[in-house]
Amino acid sequence: MTATQGRVRPRAIGTPLDRLDGRAKVTGSARYAYEQPVGEPVYLHAVQATVARGRITGIDTEAAAAVPGVLAVLTHRNAPRLADTRDAELAVLQSDAVAFRGQFVGGVVATTSEAARYAASLVRTTYDTQPHDSVLRPDRDDLYAPESVNGGFATDTEQGDVEAALASAAVTVDQTYTTAMNHNNPMEPHTTVAVWNDGELTLYESTQGVHMVRSQVAPLFGLQPDEVHVVSPFVGGGFGSKGTPHAPVVLAAMAARLVPGRAVRFALTRPQMFFVAGYRTPTVQHIRLGADRGGRLTAISVDAVSQTSRIKEFAEQTAVAARMMYAAPHRRTTHRLARLDVPVPSWMRAPGECPGMFAAEVAMDELAEACGLDPVELRIRNEPATDPETGRPFSSRNLVACLREGARRIGWERREQAPRSRREAGHLVGLGVAASVYPVFWMPGSSATVRAGAGGRYTVSIGAADLGTGTWTALAQIAADALEVPVERVELRIGDTAFPPASVAGGSSGITAWGSAVVHAARRLRETYGNAPPDGAEATGETGDNPATERFAMYAFGAQFAEVRVDEETGEVRVPRLVGVFAAGCVINPKTARSQLVGGMTMGLSMALHEESHVDGRLGQVANHDLAEYHIAANADVGDIDVSWIDEDDPHVNPMGSKGIGEIGIVGTAAAVANAAHNATGVRVRDLPITLDKLLGDPGAGNGPAVRRR
Ligand code: MOS
Repeated sequence: MTATQGRVRPRAIGTPLDRLDGRAKVTGSARYAYEQPVGEPVYLHAVQATVARGRITGIDTEAAAAVPGVLAVLTHRNAPRLADTRDAELAVLQSDAVAFRGQFVGGVVATTSEAARYAASLVRTTYDTQPHDSVLRPDRDDLYAPESVNGGFATDTEQGDVEAALASAAVTVDQTYTTAMNHNNPMEPHTTVAVWNDGELTLYESTQGVHMVRSQVAPLFGLQPDEVHVVSPFVGGGFGSKGTPHAPVVLAAMAARLVPGRAVRFALTRPQMFFVAGYRTPTVQHIRLGADRGGRLTAISVDAVSQTSRIKEFAEQTAVAARMMYAAPHRRTTHRLARLDVPVPSWMRAPGECPGMFAAEVAMDELAEACGLDPVELRIRNEPATDPETGRPFSSRNLVACLREGARRIGWERREQAPRSRREAGHLVGLGVAASVYPVFWMPGSSATVRAGAGGRYTVSIGAADLGTGTWTALAQIAADALEVPVERVELRIGDTAFPPASVAGGSSGITAWGSAVVHAARRLRETYGNAPPDGAEATGETGDNPATERFAMYAFGAQFAEVRVDEETGEVRVPRLVGVFAAGCVINPKTARSQLVGGMTMGLSMALHEESHVDGRLGQVANHDLAEYHIAANADVGDIDVSWIDEDDPHVNPMGSKGIGEIGIVGTAAAVANAAHNATGVRVRDLPITLDKLLGDPGAGNGPAVRRR
């Protein structure tokens, strides 16, 4: 059976159903990991390294152990030995080595969280400190090429002769763009409740995938996968930071080993989120574009540099979007890494596409300016007929429709082509555009079980995750349509390894993978038992393969427009209006989808204007490691966000015809804001975030200051 055989006839699909878990959430009865009732829990607080590199020479736990209520103090000396230490990020407390500042070097278990936290502050550690290197510079001579980049993509690609094409191009852009280090800060920090019973481990975990946690944690403790039970019905955001296990879950499971039968509760503090939960690497991207006078690209070259950690490689796939986005016969992309004494970078909403499309889409704006072309028109002129990298047709590609609809909605005709030509009440006002893209990933390996109950009711089980995204609702809608019954007759069960295995909620692939499995299970039930299956009848379906992924290039597209107002006196940047128009196949639930896209664009606005983790190179740590100093866009920073989508029928992606929407919303937002800021002020900011100091301009650069100087 092929995965897309037969489309589901949409009935519940496409309706803006309220969240089925909404009442449970607003009344507080939805239990998040830390809140799971577990008898008499004990509490864990972590001890972190205070040097960026070195060896522990002494660790004095006496004062900590003497604190009333303390049950155990964990260090590398008494920590359980792990059965598998190949993943150095997860090899917690296995040696005296310190690989980055903030790394876990111990933990305290106590009867109250206050006692654990106080006692942890009393642990005294001494180090043999070694010199460290924690700041990304692109000019270092030890950058290296990873074997592949995140997602399994090729590190470098080359088609045609880029250098010759650039040398002979009528118009060129040659600039370097930089994006800041960003840290994921979901509302719910990383939390675990761990308990060992009869040699088996139960984890109540805030995660993007219960089966993913099971399969990665089990071997660390020498367990079979079915000896690890992971429960995660509700998650307060993840954005990728909970898409792979990090050190906290390991520390919690270890600590629980010291108090068998008792549940250990562990939540990262907000500052700890900046050390042990992954982050978006800063990037430096050298982009060169060549085009004819009409703006038709002849050459695209992207050389991307990012950082990884000494102990574990993560290679941001920054340049991959440039491989497929626009037509150009000559193209080249490279990725290089600096290995630093820093925490391990990881996924943050649209890794690769998000920083990559900032640079690429600002470069396109610069090309439009150089050609004297409208930037919407420039993008339309460079639409490829097929995927420029593979030659495959797109399963559907409606970027142009998104650009046109977005232009209509923002009032693009009001835009002045010449920058710095619109002033309103002491503000320079501009409009900007950028494109969005995100792949449709097919993750095999999920299965779902559908069981018929009394009165035409069905129970649908799959270990899927709802990060706050709407899975509880959207998957129930899909199940209802596959079974051809009203949604009220479906009881969904997700977020538990007791249910059939589900792929991780990552790469915006969840609904594609889990929905396909649910549809197949429902169809198998109907094929076996007909329209009225007897009480207790059951069928299982798998995601399977989708052969269409071999024949088509599959992506969601979008266009984002920003209106930016810059105060002429202060340089303060405001974004009163963002417009996002997306082409993402069939939208399962317009209400939860809209929230996802508004959320993505809000995070993109935050990236554009505010978010920046400042590394103090002397200490080797993020200096602004809390929400007082790491500013995330608050309500007052966000103006009107107008989200819509165009009707798109894609018969190839999956039985629902849907594309993922979790990540595309953040892709392109920052470029649209930067391009609008340029249109407003004439200052080209190539370095995120766009803080007001950058708009003061460099008079020597010929731009002139954006705002008045006194
Ligand atoms: Mo998402 S960053 O792919 O978990």
